[in-house]
Amino acid sequence: MDPLVSGPCSPVLDLLRQLHDSLKGVSDGEVATYIPELSKADPDAFGICLVTATGTVYEVGDSQVPFTIQSISKPFVYGLALEDNGRGPVLEKVGVEPTGDAFNSISLEPGSGRPRNPMINAGAIAAAGMIEGRGLASRFKRVQDMLSDYAGRALPLDESVYRSESETGHRNRAIGYMLRNYNILSGDPIQAVELYFQQCSVSVTCRDLGVMAATLANRGINPLTGRQAIRGQYVENVLSVMGSCGMYDYAGEWIYNVGIPAKSGVAGGVIAVLPGQVGIGVYSPRLDARGNSVRGIRVCDELSRHWDLHMFNSETSGRSTIRRKFTGAEVNSNRVRTLQEMAALRERGDGIRVYQLQGNLAFATAEVVVQEIMQNFEVIHQLVIDLKRVQTLNESACRLFWLTVVKLAESGKRTVFTHVDRFPLLRRYFKVKLGDRAEELFRTFEDNDLALEACENQLLNRALPARTTDHRVGPLEFDLCRDLTVSEVDLLSVCLVHKRFAAGDTIITAGDPAAELYFLVRGTVSVLMVTAGGRLSRLATFSPGMTFGEMAVIDRAPRSATIVADTEGECQLLSLEALDGLRQSAPEVCIKLLTNLSRTLSQKLRKANRELSVLD
Ligand code: DON
Repeated sequence: MDPLVSGPCSPVLDLLRQLHDSLKGVSDGEVATYIPELSKADPDAFGICLVTATGTVYEVGDSQVPFTIQSISKPFVYGLALEDNGRGPVLEKVGVEPTGDAFNSISLEPGSGRPRNPMINAGAIAAAGMIEGRGLASRFKRVQDMLSDYAGRALPLDESVYRSESETGHRNRAIGYMLRNYNILSGDPIQAVELYFQQCSVSVTCRDLGVMAATLANRGINPLTGRQAIRGQYVENVLSVMGSCGMYDYAGEWIYNVGIPAKSGVAGGVIAVLPGQVGIGVYSPRLDARGNSVRGIRVCDELSRHWDLHMFNSETSGRSTIRRKFTGAEVNSNRVRTLQEMAALRERGDGIRVYQLQGNLAFATAEVVVQEIMQNFEVIHQLVIDLKRVQTLNESACRLFWLTVVKLAESGKRTVFTHVDRFPLLRRYFKVKLGDRAEELFRTFEDNDLALEACENQLLNRALPARTTDHRVGPLEFDLCRDLTVSEVDLLSVCLVHKRFAAGDTIITAGDPAAELYFLVRGTVSVLMVTAGGRLSRLATFSPGMTFGEMAVIDRAPRSATIVADTEGECQLLSLEALDGLRQSAPEVCIKLLTNLSRTLSQKLRKANRELSVLD
């Protein structure tokens, strides 16, 4: 039982147990004997392991019993050959066509002598011949390390099986010489054949196969260790040949019924890989006439039916790519705006469009976003694309975004991206396509709040060209002093204490006792709070003419957030004591202050409600 699956038994494990129980009585098939050492296997051994692409391991039965990987090594070594040589040179030496022949058939293309695919022995030996290294030992070390990266642990060589195979591997040697004859192999063919025997003799367990399959399902990254076992771009080639050739002359029926790229081994192992979802490993040494594990096939067939794993049975993707969309009239940044600015944003903010995306962005899913943007092309002036909840983003999505950004820019429309750190491919793509213009067209912000503020500033600079943000305001200009007469402002001013601050100064610290209210005369300050995720998040930014720390006036409770100066500036402090004094000496001033205060707070509440209704 896997310690990872703690607490009540998972339904997935329940199913695997039921499946194991239902098939353990199946005794069709024979253990392989043509490699003598393999005949020592326990014919009734039976293990199943399912590993998700996110790294959860479910295993039942003999999942920890060691056996040799045999032909299941072929797709992995083919992947290494692709990494060492690239697709072109490998395709020159090994084809990708299913043969419909047995695994050990001498199936070479007439004329070129090229093996038809890398899953039959001939193709696997040719691939072994393309592994880089100085001599057999270093090549095998690279193969062994690579397989261990997939498994997430060091995999040993089973010396006795290797010896047994090497002593009896005459047919494979013959294949080696044929390949040498056609110059598919260069130099001494026996080097390649011996490497092939060694790769087949690497010792694994059913659990290892599950993890190795999940690594392919996770685009080459081991979901348990996070280690890259193969470059993502080659995974599609490995899975393609597994899909079309992995089960030899049963490949057609397999893909029809089970519909998952797979590979079997003559020691009784089977792996199956559903890209992006799950890896399956099965161990059961009883083989059918084609050399595939009888119970291995049954398990994959059942799992595919039970959990709809057939790769051609996929839901239409894309409908949920846009998690949320809103305009700059509906939701504003946390930059606190003057009433005039708020009015301008409500009036013109519709031109700011924000799309929060989610899931895996590929052609079909990115296309949905682009279509939505194109349908709103005329109204969009500034576009914000938020990638916070995007899991993966591939090159086609990058291409679609690049083309869209350029199309918008040609009409003077601006695009910004947020939360791009996890997607260096996107930045690289824009850089490659746009060169120096990438700085101008590929604009990014840490989060939506900052992106929205930048879009708002752009809009307000156009809508309110006279507005300035770095000016100095007098008492009469404060929103909180609305409707106060000059003499009343004078009464208030004598209570105020002037305070300067430098950029970066902490003006208020969360938890501190609240003792005063702040009138911001010059500069800007921001309210910061540490989120549950430990990130410092901006709740608000104030500009001259605004007040902060006013909640203290209402509830006298300790400060709820920290306020830091963004720039050098000044403010006037009204202590609660002085306010209480004013309550006695000039109650009309106090009433006006509190009325304005409650109006400001109700505006903030209305803004919060309006935005919550859009963001729910
Ligand atoms: O070359 C051989 O015969 C073995 N080392 C591997 C064959 C194998 O696993 C076929 N798979 N079903």
